[in-house]
Amino acid sequence: MSNPSLLILPGDGIGPEVMTEVRKVIDWYGTKRDMAFDVSEDLVGGSAYDAHGTPLTDATMAKAQEVDAVLLGAVGGPKYDALDFSVKPERGLLRLRKEMDLFANLRPAQCFDALADFSSLKRDVVAGLDIVIVRELTSGIYFGEPRGIIEDGNERVGINTQRYTESEIDRVARNAFELAMRRNRKLCSMEKANVMESGVLWREVVTEVGKDYPEVELSHMYADAGAMQLCRWPKQFDVIVTDNLFGDLLSDAAAMLTGSLGMLPSASLGAPMANGRPKALYEPVHGSAPDIAGQGKANPIACILSFAMALRYSFDAGDEATRLEQAVEKVLADGLRTADLLGEEGAQPVSTAEMGDAIVAA
Ligand code: NAI
Ligand code: MG
Repeated sequence: MSNPSLLILPGDGIGPEVMTEVRKVIDWYGTKRDMAFDVSEDLVGGSAYDAHGTPLTDATMAKAQEVDAVLLGAVGGPKYDALDFSVKPERGLLRLRKEMDLFANLRPAQCFDALADFSSLKRDVVAGLDIVIVRELTSGIYFGEPRGIIEDGNERVGINTQRYTESEIDRVARNAFELAMRRNRKLCSMEKANVMESGVLWREVVTEVGKDYPEVELSHMYADAGAMQLCRWPKQFDVIVTDNLFGDLLSDAAAMLTGSLGMLPSASLGAPMANGRPKALYEPVHGSAPDIAGQGKANPIACILSFAMALRYSFDAGDEATRLEQAVEKVLADGLRTADLLGEEGAQPVSTAEMGDAIVAA
């Protein structure tokens, strides 16, 4: 059997720096765990624009469709801010998401014990937190038609449309139920069925899909109440499923429960491929961090944990993913901190490479 394949797209800014550390982890799996990957590397974002005049070439797109998983660093930077919208670095990422049809965005919010005091919330509220938000990513108000700014009489009107088909809700709900089955069999669906028809349909379809998963305890919550509950007592949740707009807000809020942007991984999953694996793109939540790029200050953990998610969701290696997460936990417990994880104590930060090396050693 051939090795599983991985396409690495480091991108711009700190993307290549954090990806260098992930490569160390991948190499470790190849030599120490007999889990070799066929790794290929290519350009995305500004670096692809510099080389080819486009943020994602057709060849790279085709490659992304073939591999078992794509791992991306980050795209963008001030150098590209003045470019035309059609060739902006972000378009490369959007094209990947769209053409791979990655409809389920998984955003874990996990609090490592060593960082519990780093949260803006009390230690009690966040210590041991381990939840996942599943956000619908390819439909809803960011894509619905009609949209635009029109003239109506003597004033302008800004228009966006929330639109969900049954099948769009069904597939992301199934994805969330499957995830709940692998975890603690508890799913909370969030919408605003009290004021939005699309929310009424969302609740109906999720309830219907739930009949195929009788072991999963399903609850529903209005998204605004959900936002409050996330801040009040987030540990009441396990998996949350919600639409594109609410998911954007709720996942950013949940992320901050646990501290730094440099710690947050994500997965975007699509339909199963012929080999049964889902189309998949893994990436840290953070951007290219131009303010610290090239200085060895970036925290590589978000990208390393994104690879852990790839192990779990693309490569059926949940135990190895846990092993990697435990290595991160240990290094943090030992007190290693990149600059973004330092509070006021004024302790000495470690570099990107030192953090990567320590995780591999652990
Ligand atoms: P950003 O996430 O790049 O940075 C925000 C702040 O967090 C900065 O102070 C940065 O130094 C810090 N930070 C981010 N990641 C870090 C890490 N791993 N370690 C330590 N500190 C870290 O967001 P910003 O500044 O809004 O955007 C910068 C560029 O990145 C823009 O061009 C933006 O369009 C792009 N971007 C790309 C994304 C992607 O590729 N998925 C997502 C968000 C922004
Ligand atoms: Mg956002």
